[in-house]
Amino acid sequence: MKVLVTGGAGYIGSHTVKELIKKGYEIIIFDNLSTGRKELVKGGQLIEGDLQSRESIKALFRSHSIQAVLHFAALMQVGESFLDPQKYYRHNLLTTLNLLEAMLEAGVKYFVFSSSAAVYGEPQYLPIDENHPLTPINPYGATKFMVERILEDYGRAYNLRYISLRYFNAAGADPDGQLGEMHEPETHLIPCLLLYWLGKKSDFQVFGNDFPTPDGTAIRDYIHVTDLARAHLLALEKLFSGGESQSLNLGSSRGYSVLEVIKTVEKVIGEKIKVKFGPRRPGDVPVLLASREKAQRELGWKPELSDLEFIISTAYKWHLSH
Ligand SMILES: NC(=O)c1ccc[n+]([C@@H]2O[C@H](COP(=O)([O-])OP(=O)(O)OC[C@H]3O[C@@H](n4cnc5c(N)ncnc54)[C@H](O)[C@@H]3O)[C@@H](O)[C@H]2O)c1
Repeated sequence: MKVLVTGGAGYIGSHTVKELIKKGYEIIIFDNLSTGRKELVKGGQLIEGDLQSRESIKALFRSHSIQAVLHFAALMQVGESFLDPQKYYRHNLLTTLNLLEAMLEAGVKYFVFSSSAAVYGEPQYLPIDENHPLTPINPYGATKFMVERILEDYGRAYNLRYISLRYFNAAGADPDGQLGEMHEPETHLIPCLLLYWLGKKSDFQVFGNDFPTPDGTAIRDYIHVTDLARAHLLALEKLFSGGESQSLNLGSSRGYSVLEVIKTVEKVIGEKIKVKFGPRRPGDVPVLLASREKAQRELGWKPELSDLEFIISTAYKWHLSH
């Protein structure tokens, strides 16, 4: 089985490629290396190219017989999406439209999409299940919402079969130490703390300590990247075995505040980290927490590596060695 992984040289994509190869899939990675890294490509065939080019993605489908697509490639910085929404709408929508067009032309029917908890916007209840209203509050989340909508319509009209996976906070690194997070700039909490402690980041701020949470800092649902990767494999197999198109949350259903994360990082590194407190960022909500019941029911998936200390210890090992 040949599977195309767009963005397979990125953080979550590379971990997923590893799981797919273990299961015997043949992998083509299509990536423009804008945020991805060649060193995260440990297997599969890397084709450097940009999904913004309709022709190059069509040429790829003409020269390889691909059975399914996992689509990770996207721009994903919430803050930047507020400053330059045009960049986000153009990029995240056009790339996906080009990819879907090439797939349909080649008769490829199976699609797994990297969506996000950002499709939900302000939580109206917790934990958030898949029936929660979709009211994204930033342009990045809006692009994910719009792609999910496009998939619904394409599914109906062209018999495309898809699963949209709505990730909560991806974190941690490959337990074997081969892969990890290398965003530039890094904006995620755990790598930011570790990079600050290692002297590779000059500043670290906690954004807001006046949230209505027990310690005043925001609570998020962290999910180990290898747990996410395994869910992609299960989603793909669900589609191959005739499973329905749908959207599924991928989270641990356990929330940790920023201060709890800092304390656990301190425990793992064995030192105190001096942090500053700054104002809340626009659009940051107090608590995000996934209900993962549907993913468990539909895919038989549950997190196995998402204990916070384990997440942080894998990230720590990765950052020490890179
Ligand atoms: N990291 C998270 O916590 C998180 C949470 C929710 C959703 N997501 C989604 O998961 C996906 C992967 O996230 P990640 O953290 O691995 O990001 P990443 O930046 O590490 O990976 C994205 C990859 O896509 C590639 N890419 C981007 N634009 C491209 C284009 N036009 N053509 C070809 N390749 C292109 C990049 O080079 C990179 O390798 C994204 O769609 C993101 O929105 C991530």
